[in-house]
This record gives sequence, C-alpha cells and structure tokens, in this order.
Amino acid sequence: MADEKGFAVSDPALGRWAEQTFRPEDAALAEIRARSDAGGLPAIHVGKMDSLHLEVLALLLGAKRVVEIGTLAGLSGVALLRGMAPDGVLHTFEFSPHHARVAEESFRRNGFAARAKIHVGPALEKLPSIEREGPFDLVFIDADKVNYPNYLSWAERNLRSGGAVVGDNTFGFGKIHDPSAQDESIAAIREFNLRIAQSGKFRGTILPTEEGLTVGVKI
Ligand code: DHB
Ligand code: MG
Repeated sequence: MADEKGFAVSDPALGRWAEQTFRPEDAALAEIRARSDAGGLPAIHVGKMDSLHLEVLALLLGAKRVVEIGTLAGLSGVALLRGMAPDGVLHTFEFSPHHARVAEESFRRNGFAARAKIHVGPALEKLPSIEREGPFDLVFIDADKVNYPNYLSWAERNLRSGGAVVGDNTFGFGKIHDPSAQDESIAAIREFNLRIAQSGKFRGTILPTEEGLTVGVKI
C-alpha cells in the first residue's frame, strides 16, 4: 500500500544524515573504540546511533539502577551512564578479564569509576549477587546470543514495572526471518523477540538499527 510507511528501509544516506545531525559519538566514545582496537578487542561495539539510543532510553526512564550484560570495552556502558541519574549505578557483566580491564579504563577516563561496577565471569552465575539491589530500571543485553532467553528471564524477574529490557543484534545478523537459519544463536534471538513481543509480560518493539534493537517495557 502506497501510503504505508516503510520499516528497516536502508538508505545509507539517511544514516549519514542522522549521524551528522545528531552527532552521536564524541571524542570520548571514539577514544574508547580506538583504545579497544589497540587492546585487540573485537570491534563489535554498538553502533554510533545505538549508543545515543541507550543514553536517551536511560534518560527517559530516569534510570538509577541499570544492568548491562556484555561490557566489552565500556562504550555502551559510558553511554548508559551519561543518560542515568547522577547518583545512578551501572552493574555491567563481562566474561573476559582482559575486556573488563579495558572497560575499567573507559569508565575511569569518563569520570564513572565509582558508578560502574564491573562483574567478571559468566553473567548467569554473577547476576544473583546484585538481585537485592533491584528492582532495576533498565537491563541491556548484548552478550552471548545463546543465553538471550536466560538473560530475559532474569530481566523479567528483576525489572521494576515500567522498566525496560533492551537487546542488541535482534535481527539475528540479518537471518532472524530466514527459516533455513537454524543455528542455536539465531533460535535464541528468535525466542527473545517472541517473548518480548507476545508473552504479555512486556510491551515491546524493535528499532530498525543495522543490527536490530529490541526494546520491551515490563507491564
Ligand atoms: C557480535 C556480537 C555483537 O554483540 C554484535 O553487536 C556484533 C557481532 C559477534 O559476536 O560477532
Ligand atoms: Mg551487539
């Protein structure tokens, strides 16, 4: 239908316009990317507009208690902290001790050393240790894809109502809709989306970023 507006329409010129206009990444975030590259970390950070989305979502929620699963170099964590209340605390979970050290430096350089608590190890083992500090305003999931449903279960139990779960890579690396794509990670991301869309526990949507960014508000 001609009058229906498109979705996930990719015209790279629109992306360039958005980045020029909204200026999502300043020198501090670019420094994190560069230092992460120098440290040998994989360049799988959130995109420039994604970090802005995270900051604005945290701001919108008035977020004081935020959980991030998958710290990497701390780029998304710094973005979340920028949007959070001045006394807010970010608990961020990272499997790799080396990544965690790079992230620690990112938080320190950006004035967030005291407000970013990095937990090193498997997130599913470490998450119970923060549960008494909840309920949480925002849970951002950007770690091992096979565990997205498990991380979602944790978020369901530990978000306040009106709080939000956000997941990166929810287009499943472009394969979410392809029935021939049956690997474990894609199946897990499908379940994650389906539960946010249809379980009745969330009101959810998916932002058509390059990777897909699912947002569900706990109801
Ligand atoms: C990969 C992971 C991510 O979270 C991402 O945004 C891009 C790529 C990966 O594991 O390859
Ligand atoms: Mg990601």
